[in-house]
Amino acid sequence: MKFHLEASFRLSGDASCALPDLADLFQGSADILQKGAPVGHGARLADWRLEENQIFLVLDSDKYVRAHDALLRLRRPLAQMLGKKHRIGVRGIEVTRFEIEVESNREISHKIPYVNKIDFEDGKLRLLLDVGPGGIGEAELDGRIPDRIVSLLEEKLADYGGKGEHWELLWESPRRMPIFDSDPTEEMVKLGWIKHGSSRGQWIHGPESTHLFRTFERIVLEDMLEPLGYREMIFPKLDTWDVWKKSGHALGVYPEIYFVCPPKTRDPAFWEEVMDHYKVTHEIPLELVKEKIDYPIGGMCYAQCPTFWGFLQGMTLPSNDLPIKVFDRSGTSHRYESGGIHGIERVDEFHRVEIVWLGTRDQVLEEGERLKEGYRRIFEEVLELQWRMAWVTPWFMAQEGKAGLSEMAGAGTVDYEALLPYNGNWIEFQNLSVNGEKYPKGFTVKSQSGEPLWSGCSGVGLERWASAFLSQKGLDPDGWPEAFRKRLGKMPSGIRFL
Ligand code: SER
Ligand code: ZN
Repeated sequence: MKFHLEASFRLSGDASCALPDLADLFQGSADILQKGAPVGHGARLADWRLEENQIFLVLDSDKYVRAHDALLRLRRPLAQMLGKKHRIGVRGIEVTRFEIEVESNREISHKIPYVNKIDFEDGKLRLLLDVGPGGIGEAELDGRIPDRIVSLLEEKLADYGGKGEHWELLWESPRRMPIFDSDPTEEMVKLGWIKHGSSRGQWIHGPESTHLFRTFERIVLEDMLEPLGYREMIFPKLDTWDVWKKSGHALGVYPEIYFVCPPKTRDPAFWEEVMDHYKVTHEIPLELVKEKIDYPIGGMCYAQCPTFWGFLQGMTLPSNDLPIKVFDRSGTSHRYESGGIHGIERVDEFHRVEIVWLGTRDQVLEEGERLKEGYRRIFEEVLELQWRMAWVTPWFMAQEGKAGLSEMAGAGTVDYEALLPYNGNWIEFQNLSVNGEKYPKGFTVKSQSGEPLWSGCSGVGLERWASAFLSQKGLDPDGWPEAFRKRLGKMPSGIRFL
């Protein structure tokens, strides 16, 4: 890896009087430019010259002290010397040329911010960066943009072969004979429990299906959340970019979100043309609508817990109040699923109880175990499922587009999977994760003691619970486990049609 940087320091006045001091400083600069690098490595000042109030520099480096870091390292000693001895200030940095060379065995065609041109020659990618106004300048150097360009390039070049989604079996329930072997969605539709909604991957749940969902929810509440002292909250269901920058979703969630755009104005006159077009044609003029809506401000709820963190953002929590345990069941989540939408198993709009807890590392890990025990009892003793647990790529990494496992010891996701007898597949019907310091750090939440804060979350997917339960137990409540029937009470009658 090589960096070539041509830049200048702009001064508050003509520094001709300081020429000998500048020569001294730059001749002796090898120490500064190579500090911390292995012997023979680092940056080198290839050339410099003074022109009145501007010092032009040419820096070459390898990856150890990158040329842009070298330039920034020179800023302070230069300012000190000029300030003290000559009453001249350093006003800013201008970049006139910036090239990066990276070893590669192939070309890449990605569009990378601030990169004007990428050539591939002799096993090397040569990047010519955009410099000057709108391109790389002092703020971008200070903001570590060149390093992020290199990291992104390395990510594009990396061979992820073999480093896919992690999956490792942790525990498996006893085999249980299913009493049903059909697709439960088809059966639900046949019995009139659900109907397709007007949107993709969306269902309208009739009284029977709704009662089933509410029973699942009640079991989670009564058997786990109430005894463990959870408090209910209401998390917003529109996630702004700001939330997703902090949660990490901004790194990778785009292909799966439903974007939310506000109108450019709520002035009815601005929209009159749209309304009138509809009145005459009975068609919505989508091109016109597109012109009149603003940029997306974010998207509809995707992971459910990120918006909670706005409540704690920037705060310090009293040690005695830890761990904090809350849950939300106030609305839907939305994902633009791939072609794989299927029945109620894979949907674009779904319902979930989201459980969130936070405290010290030990508290969070212990709480995770208590919740796991609660789930185990429900799946074994109330629902009598055939299910298993697997250690998988953490949801917070997967949703950032990453594979593998977390580097924080103890942090990660357990997927709960149930067998679907009708097709032999296992369905993930909920998860439980210890998210380490990710969220408290992302949203700057601290503990009184100064000890690092950890958090965990667990999503109870009601559509998935229904898929798992109904596909193993069928749709006839008479065939359902006794303990579950007690909790269900009387199934409401459905809506009839002539
Ligand atoms: N927030 C977690 C997820 O989206 C748990 O629901 O998977
Ligand atoms: Zn979550």
